[in-house]
Amino acid sequence: MARRNLVPLFFLIAATFPFDASAFKCGNSPLKCQALIDHITPEPTTFVEVQTLFAVRNLRTLLGANNLPRSTPPDQKLPAKQTLKIPFPCLCHRGAGISNKRPVYTVKKGDDGLKDIAEKVFSGTVTDDAIAAANGISEKDPVKVGQKLSIPLPCSCDEVEGRKVIHYGYLAESGSSLEGIAERYGVSVPTLTEINGLKDGSSIRAGQLLDVPIRACNSSIRSDSIDSQLLVANGTYVFAAHNCVQCKCDSANNWTLQCQPSGVKPSDWSTCPAMECGLGKNSVLLGNSSASACRGATCNYGGFSSNQTIFTTFDRTCSAAPAPGPSTGGKIGLKNWNIILLSLVHLMVLQLFCIGG
Ligand SMILES: *[C@@H]1O[C@H](CO)[C@@H](O)[C@H](O)[C@H]1NC(C)=O
Ligand SMILES: *[C@@H]1O[C@H](CO)[C@@H](O)[C@H](O)[C@H]1NC(C)=O
Ligand SMILES: *[C@@H]1O[C@H](CO)[C@@H](O)[C@H](O)[C@H]1NC(C)=O
Ligand SMILES: *[C@@H]1O[C@H](CO)[C@@H](O)[C@H](O)[C@H]1NC(C)=O
Ligand SMILES: *[C@@H]1O[C@H](CO)[C@@H](O)[C@H](O)[C@H]1NC(C)=O
Repeated sequence: MARRNLVPLFFLIAATFPFDASAFKCGNSPLKCQALIDHITPEPTTFVEVQTLFAVRNLRTLLGANNLPRSTPPDQKLPAKQTLKIPFPCLCHRGAGISNKRPVYTVKKGDDGLKDIAEKVFSGTVTDDAIAAANGISEKDPVKVGQKLSIPLPCSCDEVEGRKVIHYGYLAESGSSLEGIAERYGVSVPTLTEINGLKDGSSIRAGQLLDVPIRACNSSIRSDSIDSQLLVANGTYVFAAHNCVQCKCDSANNWTLQCQPSGVKPSDWSTCPAMECGLGKNSVLLGNSSASACRGATCNYGGFSSNQTIFTTFDRTCSAAPAPGPSTGGKIGLKNWNIILLSLVHLMVLQLFCIGG
């Protein structure tokens, strides 16, 4: 009965308090994407506890978003006040983006209302209003131990300056400046200002949540691939093709996605299919460069298909042109002949002169 009465209230709240109105607009397509948000550990914890709190599918995904070694043990300790980037799926609806049905938080003993949960457990990345709206309750309602709350993390899937990006919910540290954040994440100050609805020259306070659009690497993934929308933020790595492939993005590599076989047990396939460019003895493993026919060309990830196929492609077209090595050698040979011939002519001319003299 009580729930029934709450339904109209939910719509009222949702209409009156949209999620943080100034930032994290999510207006244009696509409607779903991957996003990142900061989490500051309120107390000492472990990687696996953070993974569980945010329902991140596996530990590797959490480690990849933070560019930490894959070998990091699940129970490795994290001190209090440690910042981690949390990867999560984002869903756009009516101009705002929120995490897609997760995480779900179970109220614990000692939690003192929605505001306390929002600020203490979720580092202020969500507001009590937003949690209330997402769960159809009032932000003043008391919460009960064991109650399950859907936590709507703010996010966006919007393109920025005509480019697909990963939106990162960045929690400003004390002393943060827009210039500093812009430089660290390769974004311009005007872009940060505009996307966050800030006034020109405004200062940033510690704990303020900012939408930082991180540039992603370009890839050769086919449009008919299941993961044709794959975007990998700079400074992170992800697993693709049911975990068979590991791809990283580093701006130092000219914004090109670098993928290789992951060596991880696949999630939906019994084994990983072949991951190479070309056939037979000239084939090149995904991520490696060709030493023969197409010298220096890298074998790139091209996506995957439901019929247990991983697509690959060389990063440039390899024509049947002769390999550079031997042909250059041939030219040097010819040049040498020219020199010898020239010398001979020289000698003959000299001889003629001598005879003439
Ligand atoms: C990748 O590059 C192609 C052409 O160079 C461009 O059309 C595409 O938008 C780029 N993708 C990203 C994600 O930057
Ligand atoms: C990309 O990420 C790397 C590694 O985190 C970092 O060193 C580099 O500055 C970033 N590049 C840009 C343009 O943000
Ligand atoms: C970097 O990538 C661009 C476009 O993808 C290309 O035109 C350029 O030649 C590349 N630069 C280097 C140094 O590889
Ligand atoms: C190909 O890549 C694998 C790792 O993915 C590496 O162990 C191997 O040495 C590479 N082979 C060549 C010929 O570069
Ligand atoms: C799997 O599907 C792709 C297209 O999605 C096709 O190009 C490929 O030939 C198929 N492979 C097999 C073994 O059926």
